[in-house]
Amino acid sequence: RLGLKTETLGRNIHHEESVDSTQKIAHRLAYEGSPEGTVVIAEEQLSGRGRMDRRWHSPKSTGVWMSVILRPNIPPPKAPQLTLITAVAVVQAIEELTGLTPQIKWPNDILMNGKKVTGILTELQADADRIISIIIGIGINVNQQLNDYPDELKHIATSLSIEKGEKLSRADLIKILLGKLENLYKLYLDKGFYPIKLLWESYAVSIGKSLTARTITGTIYGKALGITDDGVLMIEDSNGKVHHVYSADIELDS
Ligand code: BTN
Repeated sequence: RLGLKTETLGRNIHHEESVDSTQKIAHRLAYEGSPEGTVVIAEEQLSGRGRMDRRWHSPKSTGVWMSVILRPNIPPPKAPQLTLITAVAVVQAIEELTGLTPQIKWPNDILMNGKKVTGILTELQADADRIISIIIGIGINVNQQLNDYPDELKHIATSLSIEKGEKLSRADLIKILLGKLENLYKLYLDKGFYPIKLLWESYAVSIGKSLTARTITGTIYGKALGITDDGVLMIEDSNGKVHHVYSADIELDS
């Protein structure tokens, strides 16, 4: 129906009208043994989830609310790399569909004009030393208009349609995105993270900027130096000490 040209991603698509969260459904499918490349898409999510236990606003038929099951043979600490791969795929897909180039804010926010257009949530089913499956949740704001957003989101969120000034095809976006994601995922399995890192850095807005990183263990102020070959953010504080940040909320100082 989408006219997919991919080999594995999206060969098995579950398209739902209304769900609580596509992540939840994908977790269940993965647990039950659904193959790599299985995709869950919903028109609407009643309790879409974001990172850090936040909610993800997912109104009906306006965005791409999607979860993808992958089963890479990599150790669990490398799982965050999949978030960065997905971010590059989303940027490339948005570029191809709209001609506009979004920017990536580490680790998972995709911004246009400084406002969030896409969020990515990577979750794992793993043993101590082995990944059983990775569930990548992707939320892309496509056809929302400013008035569709609740007040608290109006100044921080945007949509492709707001940025481009016209309505866009969600089906085309999904098709392009699954193609890009499959290509980058294959590149990653074949050649490792380094080629992805270079692409990621070319789209990253945070590199070289002063920022505040809030982590579970505390807050770091400093300048983002880049990411390591594993995808870990490096921040240099005012004493010249370099911190490796695996997970945080990042606020760019203006
Ligand atoms: C974030 O920026 O905090 C991540 C947001 C991820 C949202 C997507 S929408 C599809 C999938 N299902 C969910 O409940 N969340 C992810």
